[in-house]
Amino acid sequence: MNAPATNSEKTAPITIQRGAPGEESWTETFDVPWRAGMSVLDAIVWVRTHADSSVAFRYSCVNANACKECIVSVNGKTVYACTQRLLEEGTEVGPLTNKTLIRDLVTDIVPPKENLRTILAERAKG
Ligand code: FES
Repeated sequence: MNAPATNSEKTAPITIQRGAPGEESWTETFDVPWRAGMSVLDAIVWVRTHADSSVAFRYSCVNANACKECIVSVNGKTVYACTQRLLEEGTEVGPLTNKTLIRDLVTDIVPPKENLRTILAERAKG
């Protein structure tokens, strides 16, 4: 799917890896309105708002770089989407490859000792 940008002369392509555990992943490219200094998070939020609300992504603080929830792979490097600049020539975004995939760009980033499943398993052991 490639939704057209609106009310903007400049656009930049963002390619997002999609998929869930147990299914083959695929990519989708969206042309988003581009402005100097915008972040990858800005582009993903635009995609979710204007093109495809089903893109799974997680963030909380938006540019404060405090929540650490927006961590993804951008052009092969692990970065925070809220501080990574969107490139006018194109940006590829995917989930972290060293974490368990939940869906699309969302991975399980909770430390094991804070994971509810781990806590319940530990309690069950006694
Ligand atoms: S949105 Fe919180 S660190 Fe990026």
